Amino acid sequence: VKEKSANFIIFGGSGDLAHRKLYPSLFRLYKAGYLKDHFAVIGTARRPWSDDYFRETIVASLKEYFTDDEKIMSEFAKHFFYQSHDVNDSAHYIALKNLAAKLNDQFEAENNRVYYMAIAPKFFGVVAEHINSEGLKTKDGYNRLVIEKPFGRDLDSACELNGNIAKAFPEDDIYRIDHYLGKEMIQDIPNIRANNPKFEEALNNKYVSNIQVTLAESLGVEDRGGYYETSGVLRDMIQNHIMQIVGAIASDDPAAKRAKDIHKNKTDLFASLKNLTPEQVDTNFVRGQYDIDESGTEKAYRQEDNVAEDSEIETYTAGKIEFDTERWDGVPFYVRSGKRMPNKASRIDIVFNDKVAELGINANTVVTLLIERTNNQSILINGVNYAESAQDFIKFPEEAEFTTGREAYASLIIDILSGNRVHFTLWDELRSTWKYIDSIRERWDSQKADFPNYMSGTMGPDASEMLLERDGNSWIWD
Ligand code: BG6
Repeated sequence: VKEKSANFIIFGGSGDLAHRKLYPSLFRLYKAGYLKDHFAVIGTARRPWSDDYFRETIVASLKEYFTDDEKIMSEFAKHFFYQSHDVNDSAHYIALKNLAAKLNDQFEAENNRVYYMAIAPKFFGVVAEHINSEGLKTKDGYNRLVIEKPFGRDLDSACELNGNIAKAFPEDDIYRIDHYLGKEMIQDIPNIRANNPKFEEALNNKYVSNIQVTLAESLGVEDRGGYYETSGVLRDMIQNHIMQIVGAIASDDPAAKRAKDIHKNKTDLFASLKNLTPEQVDTNFVRGQYDIDESGTEKAYRQEDNVAEDSEIETYTAGKIEFDTERWDGVPFYVRSGKRMPNKASRIDIVFNDKVAELGINANTVVTLLIERTNNQSILINGVNYAESAQDFIKFPEEAEFTTGREAYASLIIDILSGNRVHFTLWDELRSTWKYIDSIRERWDSQKADFPNYMSGTMGPDASEMLLERDGNSWIWD
């Protein structure tokens, strides 16, 4: 493990994302030795906190996730500093600049800066602009900007957001986080494809009947009703996570090594999404919103905090996506995601047709890639762990087999510190996926939804089953 040197400036340093995801991940990197002596973290937010108080909040958060000795947590927290900050006040950026310069010398952070936006997207532009105009960027180290979704709520707002950021940071220094790209299975899909030639040979419209991507959650919106009312599952999960998963499994040339090529393959795939007419939205996409559960103990979505009583926001979506490429023409990609489903499940099911027997793979075989390992399983063939299956055309490549045990955010932060943009989303990908999502959203916004239409703890509205039945298919996970 090679130690990295950097100075993090976390905007929104007192917030939920920072405490739940970033600090625990930085702590993991600290324990693993990626972060050691030469790093400092400045947390900024409006409230006036002292360094000591800030450090106490960090140790308190860490205790929720780790059982380590408090001493090591306090040692770690010594690298943390707090600067109260109003995003519109230029003077505060000067204070930040001075503090960052001081800490850079103190910790010998090699003038490397990571500016992390753990704040609402409406502030991304103004913060990025000030970082630039107030001269926070260093000359002889790197200056990387990290942003979290949502990147806009439609193509127009995404363009605007991107335009504002692009004025202050070149695209190469922008790291847009999609935490699904930090998950090991998603990162290993190219390895699995490149290392299993027969599987890869079968991965096209000649041999694939359909591909299914499921991101099911058992929880409801919890305390995020306010955010969710501006989003819905289409924007929250489909535009980003689901599309990126589809990108990993369907883009060309999985053996490509360079970030540039990998992104180009994905961008090309998204650019070939078959546009939907309003009528096709009606037939190919299903929306749902959860009601109470059978026993009446779980709330309906419309009863959640900060949710309108007549909300038309969807908490479930299933749809059929198609691509206009030689490889995938005619193959439906059925995708779905929902809250308050029976279990948490994150999986890709690849359903082969009967022609696949030509390649020595049993007709109608189903290969399942589990994005969250269950019982230590990663790949299933017809529902059985690949190692115990009679067929051996696909296995986990040795060197890729979950050796690192890294958590998604920790893995993405290592990438940021290493300047590796492979596992981040580029603007061109977003443009195509937003355009596609907009066509669905626009149709839905023009029609009244018949909500609520599924009970909590169930598989979503019936129309979701019918979507596949119509094509003579059915959901594998049900
Ligand atoms: C987030 C969504 O991006 O992903 C949440 O905003 C969702 O609504 C979460 O719950 C799911 O992530 P994971 O890693 O728990 O599957």
